[in-house]
This record gives sequence, C-alpha cells and structure tokens, in this order.
Amino acid sequence: MVVSRQGQEEELPGRKWELKTPALESSRTTLTNPAWEELDCSRCHETIAKEWASTRHAQAWNEEVYQEELATIKRQSKCTSCHAPQPLLVNGIEERVTVRDNDRHLGIDCRSCHLGADGSIHGPWGAPTEAHKSTKSKLFDATGSNELCLSCHSRSVGPVIGIGRDFDDAELSDRGFSCVGCHMAPVERPIANQDGLEARLGRSHLLQTPRDPAFLRQAFAIEVERIEGGARLEISNRAGHRVPGLNDRFLIFELDLQDASGASIARDEVEISRSEPLGVAESIVVDLAGVGAASLLIRGVHEAESITEDVVFLEQRFPLGD
Ligand code: HEC
Ligand code: HEC
Ligand code: HEC
Ligand code: HEC
Ligand code: HEC
Repeated sequence: MVVSRQGQEEELPGRKWELKTPALESSRTTLTNPAWEELDCSRCHETIAKEWASTRHAQAWNEEVYQEELATIKRQSKCTSCHAPQPLLVNGIEERVTVRDNDRHLGIDCRSCHLGADGSIHGPWGAPTEAHKSTKSKLFDATGSNELCLSCHSRSVGPVIGIGRDFDDAELSDRGFSCVGCHMAPVERPIANQDGLEARLGRSHLLQTPRDPAFLRQAFAIEVERIEGGARLEISNRAGHRVPGLNDRFLIFELDLQDASGASIARDEVEISRSEPLGVAESIVVDLAGVGAASLLIRGVHEAESITEDVVFLEQRFPLGD
C-alpha cells in the first residue's frame, strides 16, 4: 500500500449537507440534561430548551468524562471557564471567557450565548417582546455567529484541539462557511410558544455531532478508481476544520479489495487520529495493489474514549469501473 497526502484545494469538495435529528449512539453520557425545566427561558422556548438539553453544551459541566478529568487538575478555573462560563456578551465577545460561580450544572446555557451586558437578550432580529428586551446582533447571523463559536473552540486545552483555528486559517468565514451552517440544521417554526407568532426560518439548537454516524460520514468525500495493477482511493475532508478534534478519537477505514466473485485480493487499513489528522480540504491517497480487482469494500469505524462501543459510520462497495 502506498499512502500520500495532498495539500489544500481551492474549494472544500462538495457543500451539500444533510442535517437530520442527530442519532446519539453509543454515548457514555446521559442524553439529556433534566435541568432544562429549571430554565426560565423554557416557559416560552420549550422546544429550543429541549433541543439544547440533549447537546454536549448542556452536559459540559455534568458529564462524567469532564468531571473525571477535572478532578485531576489543580487550578480548576482554567477548565471551567469554557465548561460553565459567564455569559460571553456580558464580559464582551473580545474578552477571554471567564468562570461562572452559580448554576454550573447548566453547562453552556442560554444566557452564556444570548445574555447581553445591558440585560437584554441578543438574537438575530431584535424583535420586541414583553418577556425580555431583544437586541439585534450580528453574532446571530450566519457568518457573524462564527465569532461566538470561536471564542471557545479555538484553544487547545486538555484533550481538546482548538479546531476553530483551522476554520480561521483557511478563511472559511470569508467564503460563506459557518459553524452553524454545518452544526445547527435549518428549521422553520415560531420561535416561542405564544399565540400569534408566525413561523420563521431559524436553526435547531440540536448540535450535529460526530457521534452520529450519518453526520460523521459526511465529513469525507470518497473516490475510488482503477489504476494499473490495482485501485486508487482518495479520502478528502469536507469539514470546516481538521478531523478529529479530540485526543483518543480514531477513524479507521478498513479496505478490502475484491475480485468479481467477491473474493478478497488485498486488505489494508487507513487511520486518522490526533497524531495524523486530516486537515481542511486535505486528502489521503492510497494505492492498493491487486490484479483482477473489481471493487473496493470500505468500512469506516469510529473509536473514541467518550463512546462506549465502536460505531460503524460507513459500509459501502465502490465498483472500480473500467
Ligand atoms: C477554551 C475553552 C476550553 C477550556 C478552557 C477547557 N475546555 Fe474542555 N472542551 C472544550 C471544547 C470546545 C470541547 C469539545 C471539543 C470537541 O468535542 O471536539 C471540550 C471537551 C472536553 C472534554 C470531553 C472530551 C471527550 O472525550 O468527549 C473533556 C474531558 C474536557 N474538555 C476537559 C477539560 C479540562 C480538564 C480542562 C482544563 C484543563 C478543559 N477541558 C478546559 C473547551 C474548553
Ligand atoms: C452556543 C451558543 C448558544 C446557546 C447555548 C443557545 N443559543 Fe440560541 N442561538 C444561538 C445562535 C448562534 C442562534 C442563531 C441561529 C441562526 O438562526 O442562525 C440562536 C438563535 C436563537 C433563537 C432565535 C430563533 C431561531 O430559531 O433562530 C432563540 C429564540 C434562541 N436562540 C433561544 C435559545 C434558548 C432558549 C437557549 C437555551 C435553552 C439557547 N438559545 C441556547 C446560539 C446559542
Ligand atoms: C414569557 C415568555 C418568554 C420568556 C420567559 C423568554 N422569552 Fe425569549 N422570546 C419570547 C418571545 C414571545 C419572543 C419573540 C418575539 C418576536 O419575535 O415577536 C422571544 C424572542 C427571543 C429571542 C430572539 C430575539 C430577537 O433577536 O428577536 C431570543 C434569542 C430569546 N427569545 C431568548 C430567550 C432566552 C435566552 C430566555 C431566557 C433567559 C428567554 N428568551 C425567555 C418569549 C420569552
Ligand atoms: C462557552 C464556550 C463555548 C461556546 C461559545 C461554544 N461552544 Fe461548542 N462546546 C464547548 C464545550 C466545552 C464543548 C464540550 C462539552 C463536553 O463535551 O464536555 C462543546 C462541544 C461542541 C460540539 C461537539 C458536540 C458533540 O456532540 O460532540 C460542537 C459541534 C460544538 N460545540 C459546536 C459549537 C457551535 C456551532 C458554537 C457556536 C454557535 C459553539 N459550539 C459555541 C464550548 C463552547
Ligand atoms: C463544512 C461543514 C463544517 C463546518 C463549516 C464546521 N464543521 Fe465542525 N464538524 C463537521 C463535521 C462533518 C464534523 C465531524 C467530523 C469529525 O469527527 O471531526 C465536525 C466536528 C466538529 C466537532 C467535534 C470534533 C471532535 O473531534 O470531537 C466540533 C467541536 C466542531 N465540529 C465545531 C465546529 C466549529 C466551532 C466550527 C466553526 C469554527 C465548525 N465546527 C465548522 C463539519 C463542519
């Protein structure tokens, strides 16, 4: 097997994303933070609150893996600033994120992202409501929101790689890409359960997650072609940053080159992990030797410390053509 890597392309291959309700398979964490019911916001924004409750943002403090690691750290405030933050806009979006003392069990809650220094709620429209003052902010439009996400996702700390830097370095915001564009699916609905509100186009607060095999599959564009004496496979990264973004995550592509009867001619494996990540728009090219090959069967397996069982995110036969 010959493996090579290719550098950045002009465009990320393919921009069509299919974002459904994420399947949270094999997760070691509780799937919902029951504290959503305590939130004052839930009285009127119940749908959004329930969506949020099943994300890692809602689990950012409670989660077992986090508490285990935190217990080993002397100066815990350096962790908790992102996992239970003060509202970002109260500090100012340019400032470093700081630690919140109260309600840590809510993790990254509604106020962390929406509450402004003047006590008003910042959002995409600034529409008046009796419940709270609303301020229109560019931090809640498609590419403006990148700045909000980058405040916490650009630093490498503990097991985490600051993949937001990749997004910045590749100037993806200038090219119309956004974190929410891939991680929060578009939905049309009234934004609060109150009479007389019309449906509007917004985004689901469910985060698309790599633990969902259907979403993870979309991180990769895969091409297979016949070459002299075998097959060439190209796996390209379509995500807006390197893959993966955590320690101890492994994406393993099991390759099985087969003849027309389905008998195996050659087998091999390609692994993507923290030590050998796949950068923005980067590809891995693999040449497999095998005379008489008719197709390549690829199985993609996701292993991670924070998922209990390995997850198969890809199982597909690619015919080699002529
Ligand atoms: C700059 C913000 C920030 C700080 C500070 C921070 N984290 Fe995190 N942490 C994150 C982000 C973002 C993720 C999610 C990364 C992902 O899923 O790719 C995360 C995820 C985690 C996870 C989950 C990993 C998994 O396998 O699912 C653990 C554990 C963790 N952090 C521990 C820590 C510890 C310990 C510290 C302090 C030494 C710390 N974090 C400080 C932002 C931060
Ligand atoms: C990590 C940051 C973050 C957190 C946490 C968060 N939101 Fe949002 N919220 C956003 C962003 C970004 C948008 C704009 C999405 C878009 O339409 O592009 C938004 C939009 C909204 C909107 C406007 C309606 C819509 O569909 O766009 C409402 C209402 C809202 N959020 C309520 C909440 C509530 C209630 C919570 C807590 C249960 C919450 N948000 C938690 C980032 C966040
Ligand atoms: C008593 C009901 C009620 C409560 C409680 C409430 N909201 Fe709202 N909120 C509304 C209504 C109604 C609207 C829509 C106004 C409109 O568009 O006409 C709204 C709009 C919003 C918006 C969009 C603002 C914009 O840009 O126009 C956001 C974001 C939001 N709420 C977040 C929150 C958060 C976060 C909380 C909790 C801290 C909260 N809301 C609590 C009723 C409520
Ligand atoms: C206050 C800091 C903070 C902000 C702001 C923030 N995040 Fe996060 N995010 C985190 C932390 C911490 C985690 C990991 C929580 C954990 O697993 O313990 C995380 C996890 C995630 C994950 C991983 C989900 C999973 O299931 O593996 C995604 C995707 C994500 N964030 C996207 C976003 C997007 C999109 C935005 C902007 C709208 C955003 N984040 C804003 C801190 C933040
Ligand atoms: C073009 C689509 C796209 C864009 C843009 C994008 N992502 Fe992702 N993201 C993905 C895909 C696909 C995955 C799953 C691949 C993987 O496991 O890393 C992912 C994974 C993640 C993860 C989990 C990483 C891990 O290893 O646990 C985090 C956190 C995240 N994205 C945050 C962000 C943030 C923050 C931004 C904006 C700065 C962003 N993403 C922009 C598609 C995108």
